[in-house]
Amino acid sequence: MSTATVSGTSGEDRSDYTRDESKAIRKRSLRLLGTLVTPVRGQLWLAAIVLVVSTAFRVAGPALIAYGLNQALPAAVNQMNWLPTIGVVVVYLVTGIAGAALIGWYVVVAARLTQAVMLDLRKRIFLHTQRLSLEFHESYTSGRIISRQTSDLDSIRELLDGGLNELVSGLLYGGFTLVALLLLDWQSGVILAVMGIPLFLLMRWFYLNSQVAYRESRVVSAKVIVKFVETMTGIRAVKAFRKETRNDDEFGQLASDYRDVNMRSIRLFGIFEPGLMAVASVTVALVLLWGGYRVLDGTMLIGTLLAAVVYVRNFFSPLQEVAFFLNSYQSATAALEKVSGVLEEEPTVPDPAKPVDLWAARGHIEFRDVLFGYSKDRVILPDFSLDIPAGQTIALVGTTGAGKSTLAKLVSRFYDPTEGRVTLDGVDLRSLHPKDLRRAIVMVTQEAYLFSGTVADNIALGKPDATLDEIEAAARAVGADAFIQALPDGYATDVNKRGGRVSAGQRQLISFARAFLADPAVLILDEATASLDIPSERQIQDALQTLLADRTAIIIAHRLSTVAIADRVLVMEHGRIIEDDAPEALIGGDGRFARLHAAWRESLV
Ligand SMILES: Nc1ncnc2c1ncn2[C@@H]1O[C@H](COP(=O)(O)OP(=O)(O)OP(=O)(O)O)[C@@H](O)[C@H]1O
Ligand SMILES: [Mg+2]
Repeated sequence: MSTATVSGTSGEDRSDYTRDESKAIRKRSLRLLGTLVTPVRGQLWLAAIVLVVSTAFRVAGPALIAYGLNQALPAAVNQMNWLPTIGVVVVYLVTGIAGAALIGWYVVVAARLTQAVMLDLRKRIFLHTQRLSLEFHESYTSGRIISRQTSDLDSIRELLDGGLNELVSGLLYGGFTLVALLLLDWQSGVILAVMGIPLFLLMRWFYLNSQVAYRESRVVSAKVIVKFVETMTGIRAVKAFRKETRNDDEFGQLASDYRDVNMRSIRLFGIFEPGLMAVASVTVALVLLWGGYRVLDGTMLIGTLLAAVVYVRNFFSPLQEVAFFLNSYQSATAALEKVSGVLEEEPTVPDPAKPVDLWAARGHIEFRDVLFGYSKDRVILPDFSLDIPAGQTIALVGTTGAGKSTLAKLVSRFYDPTEGRVTLDGVDLRSLHPKDLRRAIVMVTQEAYLFSGTVADNIALGKPDATLDEIEAAARAVGADAFIQALPDGYATDVNKRGGRVSAGQRQLISFARAFLADPAVLILDEATASLDIPSERQIQDALQTLLADRTAIIIAHRLSTVAIADRVLVMEHGRIIEDDAPEALIGGDGRFARLHAAWRESLV
């Protein structure tokens, strides 16, 4: 969670990039920046112009003072000509007020700009990560995806909100001041330019060191957060295995590491700030000395000297802020790199360019010579062919890791086969419009996730425009009605509120109702009955009969009782089907399934 990622799916965040990789990453984030800035480039130009003009106005002040002291005042005293003095006072006031007004305008324009960019970026990250295929989400940990949307966006916002203003206007102000000083009195300008060398060295030293400290502090702070989150999300395991004391020690260590790193970066400021002051004071002293000498000599006017000293002081004043925000600039670029990495991930199961229309799916599923592996080096389904006629109920059994869920994920098109094809009613799944695909094929897993909202909302997920009657009918059909009625507010119970908390089995019943309401042509149940107790599983057998009627069904279950309602049983091992027959035939035979079934029967008595 600390440094940039080249590709989200290729493992953890890392920092050891080759040159080419770093170049590619920089290009990638510039591309992102380009697409973010393009829609607001008008405002960007406006902000830039306003900033340049207001800075010029601000820089004009000391020069006007010099003119006032050198020319206007002597004219007033010697020739009683007050016009230049009044003129310079008026111009001074006008530039001062206009400069201030423009700065005010700039702040508003810049804020509107950064808010627009942030809104765009925030939405893009959400929409894009949601759109990415399951493969991405199975490998990119949720902690990392969360930090893309939270801490990374925060550091970009921090820079845009304050830092970038300070940085750009500080640098612009410094540059303008130097030019103005050179124009006013080139010798003082040269002194300032020469003193720019130790200044540059000091800033560089600070930047490089604080970059290291800053990075370290981000790494350590990420560790602190990860430790905390991991402990709290795994709190049941922590308590069960009495891991508290060990955690206390580890967390204490991380927290004190964090303090040490922070101390180090504060110490850097302890050197940088006095250093900056020293360079500034020496420069002022040199300008004053050399200028004073020339004033005495009669080759320099006192007004010019005063203006030169003010310019030098002004030059140094924003530098501390600039140095400070170099860090936020640094972390924002790192964040932008990571975010651009996620945004450039392509969905591994892309939508078809020209989808084939599938009006009413019948539910005929076929695997034709499918080869599939999650990665290139490990094949899960080596050579898989299977024909499931429309309306058939399949029970898929087999040892752990045989590839059952993998098969289910291929049917739902969470993944595409490496070779061969999976078809629905003869159409390759890759050619189906996602809407048709999701309407035709629904998978219910053991996870049975409930979203925040009411029970009714959660069932209606299967058919967003369903009426309450339809929702209740679906719940009745799968036997979920009774317990829902018993909840504090019935169907209107909030599943996240106390009292609305439902058990794992009840969650599964709700997800059955959801699937029933969706009414797909193909239904896949992957361990979807695992949390149901035996009596309710009995009930669920009846409910399943209702649920599975008139559609193709693939039931993956470790419990062999479920097999009874299947038309056909497939026994899978190491990515291959080793037995395939009607349940009675398999039970009566002497194959793998017969042995499993006999053992299971015995365990029941
Ligand atoms: N997302 C993934 N990335 C890489 N490998 C995976 C992934 N999911 C599963 N596998 C591997 O694929 C193989 C088959 O897994 P699968 O989940 O299909 O087994 P299963 O038959 O459903 O097992 P179980 O009965 O335990 O659910 C396993 O060896 C597993 O390690
Ligand atoms: Mg599985």
